[in-house]
Amino acid sequence: MRIAVLGTGEVGRALAGRCAEVGHDVVVGTRDPARTRDRDGYAGWLDAHDTIRLVANAEAGAHAELLVNATNGAGSLAASGDAGVADHPGLVVLDVANVLDFSGGGPYPAIGAATDHSLAERLQAAFPTARVVKGLNTMNCQVMADPARVPGEHVTFVAGDDEDAKAAVRALLAAFGWPAHRVLDLGGLSAARATEMYLPLWLSLFTAAGTADVNIALCR
Ligand SMILES: NC(=O)c1ccc[n+]([C@@H]2O[C@H](COP(=O)([O-])OP(=O)(O)OC[C@H]3O[C@@H](n4cnc5c(N)ncnc54)[C@H](OP(=O)(O)O)[C@@H]3O)[C@@H](O)[C@H]2O)c1
Repeated sequence: MRIAVLGTGEVGRALAGRCAEVGHDVVVGTRDPARTRDRDGYAGWLDAHDTIRLVANAEAGAHAELLVNATNGAGSLAASGDAGVADHPGLVVLDVANVLDFSGGGPYPAIGAATDHSLAERLQAAFPTARVVKGLNTMNCQVMADPARVPGEHVTFVAGDDEDAKAAVRALLAAFGWPAHRVLDLGGLSAARATEMYLPLWLSLFTAAGTADVNIALCR
């Protein structure tokens, strides 16, 4: 499948690398490819992932059968707009982003989601012909891409209003190593409100466990 990953941070790198590793045709979108190549060791990362191309967001959107939003939550609408998500009706958008503001200090960031709104729903409203699926945003990016880093029957979630889009995401997650019974379907996209509000608990679990290789299981 042709996959575009928007996001050149650690999440974009982890997911783009894994998508390529499991056999997909991957590009990474950024606002300024030349500038990105020159920062944070990105050129070296690209050298180590030589099937992946770094392109401008617009070119990434044109490439995509499935688009992964791994941008900073505050920039996700702009990045998706630059990627031309509106111009590709039916595009599956796997949104792994959280809207977090660490500027206030303290143990927890301010969160840009609440019981009546989420980033995923804002993306869906801004790009109504896209099919947005929220997923993977409740864990560290290394665990997203390689769930075997954490032992046990831990889970991830999907939420979205289009069943076929969720199926496409589930297939990608299966290739990452997420068996079907550990991908819990929370229903419609409004459930993204809950998963986007999860981060304070994740931070506490991270602190308590002393490792980012941590996740939760659902015991019935
Ligand atoms: N770190 C984790 O393990 C983890 C876990 C769960 C969820 N998340 C979420 O995953 C997302 C990515 O996290 P990250 O730490 O890899 O990277 P990040 O620093 O949060 O975001 C980096 C990316 O955001 C883009 N970006 C920033 N501001 C933008 C703007 N105004 N307009 C357009 N694009 C903008 C950058 O684009 P350019 O390439 O153009 O500079 C870059 O690609 C975040 O939403 C984060 O909350 C992270």
